[in-house]
Amino acid sequence: MSDRFRALVLTQDDAGATQAEVRELTEADLPDEDVLVSVEYSSLNYKDGLAITGKGRVVRDFPMVPGIDLAGTVLSSRSPDYQPGQKVVLTGWGVGERYWGGYSQRQRVRPEWLVPLPESLGTREAMAIGTAGLTAMLCVMTLEEAGITPDSGDILVTGASGGVGSVAVSVLARLGYRVAAVTGRPEGAGWLRELGAQTVVSRDEMTQPPKPLESQRWAGAVDAVGGVMLARVLAETAYGGAVAACGLAGGADLPTTVMPFILRGVTLRGVDSVMCPVARRQAAWERLAQDLPRDALAGLIREVGLRELPALARQILAGQVRGRVVVSLASQD
Ligand SMILES: NC(=O)c1ccc[n+]([C@@H]2O[C@H](COP(=O)([O-])OP(=O)(O)OC[C@H]3O[C@@H](n4cnc5c(N)ncnc54)[C@H](OP(=O)(O)O)[C@@H]3O)[C@@H](O)[C@H]2O)c1
Repeated sequence: MSDRFRALVLTQDDAGATQAEVRELTEADLPDEDVLVSVEYSSLNYKDGLAITGKGRVVRDFPMVPGIDLAGTVLSSRSPDYQPGQKVVLTGWGVGERYWGGYSQRQRVRPEWLVPLPESLGTREAMAIGTAGLTAMLCVMTLEEAGITPDSGDILVTGASGGVGSVAVSVLARLGYRVAAVTGRPEGAGWLRELGAQTVVSRDEMTQPPKPLESQRWAGAVDAVGGVMLARVLAETAYGGAVAACGLAGGADLPTTVMPFILRGVTLRGVDSVMCPVARRQAAWERLAQDLPRDALAGLIREVGLRELPALARQILAGQVRGRVVVSLASQD
């Protein structure tokens, strides 16, 4: 095996702007962590878009190898928990933000960040799911824990064409829920219906500032958008319903009132995948292996190489990426 391998490296220029370029590295360049992984696939998430473009200041130490998730095979390990040849997946923990991440053909990581890949998932499938898909499953589990079942009523998914949204639509539909998908891209309505959405709701409709309480439409919701959209979702959630909030693609504010909570018993539950405990991650990966239809997953993916990431980073922040972008580290692009 050659000593040299490729990685996307972020640096900061004199003006403070983030620069991204594909470079050759050696293992001596990698951080001194216990498990060396041959990275087969990573993925592009909204936060990777922020890191690569320098927006949101998610990266503060340079040089940085971004990529908030990775899947691959252990090459060597100083930890008794992982052996060479083992397939692993990593999401979150600040990897790709504070610690070097997945956009590298090899990476050294901490064993406690890793999850053994479920046997029925390949590394490409794992990154087709990636951080976004894991978060979608954590949202579904959160709704289930709030007592929401397919008999409870319709479930709304916001940001439905994005990574979190598209996996949430697929999983919920597979589990027998009636799903309504909010999108700002009406031309993608047919694709959302193929994923399992029964109805498609326009972003314009859902970003009208709501009254404190609106007609009760949803038994539950997965929200990747935040802002006015989340306020409207809460105002439209039916008595006893629950909303799993995980994102801020539309804004970090929440211009709501207490009315949905105190008059309808609506629950707002936060979902975090970054510091999520290992046992819950493992449960979510097992559920994804079981409940995410593989044909739906295949329809969500676009595969790219490292060189395409800077352009795609700008596109994901502009809401122009559909489904999931899988990054192949074997690709020469
Ligand atoms: N809590 C966590 O652990 C966690 C983990 C992963 C992601 N997230 C967050 O979840 C969000 C989604 O992540 P992602 O990877 O799925 O990103 P993504 O692929 O870019 O999807 C976001 C989707 O939101 C919609 N959208 C974009 N801009 C919007 C706007 N201004 N107003 C309303 N809708 C808008 C778009 O869907 P349509 O075109 O269909 O409208 C877009 O595809 C991000 O905020 C991300 O930071 C959080």
